Amino acid sequence: MIDFKAAIRTIPDYPKPGIQFRDITTLLSDPTAFRASVDALVAPYADGKIRHVVGIEARGFILGGALAHQLTAGFIPIRKRGKLPRETVSVTYELEYGEDEMELHRDAILPGERILLTDDLIATGGTAIGGVKLLRDLGAEIVAACFLVDLPDLGGSKKLREMGVDVRCLCE
Ligand code: PRP
Ligand code: HPA
Repeated sequence: MIDFKAAIRTIPDYPKPGIQFRDITTLLSDPTAFRASVDALVAPYADGKIRHVVGIEARGFILGGALAHQLTAGFIPIRKRGKLPRETVSVTYELEYGEDEMELHRDAILPGERILLTDDLIATGGTAIGGVKLLRDLGAEIVAACFLVDLPDLGGSKKLREMGVDVRCLCE
């Protein structure tokens, strides 16, 4: 059994004093840990019913591509404002300090399609909640949202569950 937590490095005082930054690049670069992470995250969805994995820019793309491949699903990106060429739905989402906007192609998903939403980490939940809003705007059925890391003290996973989303994380 892989110790996912041990594969993630903690950098004190990054990006500012007092923050313990959980750096997943060490997990991604470890062949065994990366494979085990993908295997663990896709395990509940082996029934082949996920049509698309939706990953959030930027680190959600790394994981999302691997999950989609493993599930034989398609991959759809949620991107920061101004990066997608066709008509989009957009949402303003909250960051720790301030806000930003992210977008999804309007024609990427048909109503009722079964989606797995993913990102590397959930902290305050602002980013993932924005993703859920975009997907629900298009009528997607969000089967679950999955992350490598949950920082439960910041409350995001709780908020997402209160919105009716099944949240799965490999470690806290
Ligand atoms: C980080 C992380 C999540 C988000 C989590 O991304 O990859 O997307 O923050 O925080 P939240 O739950 O408080 O919203 P960041 O905004 O640093 O962007 P990046 O992936 O482009 O580096
Ligand atoms: N690590 C990576 N991304 C993050 C973190 C963290 O500790 N907190 C918020 N986004």
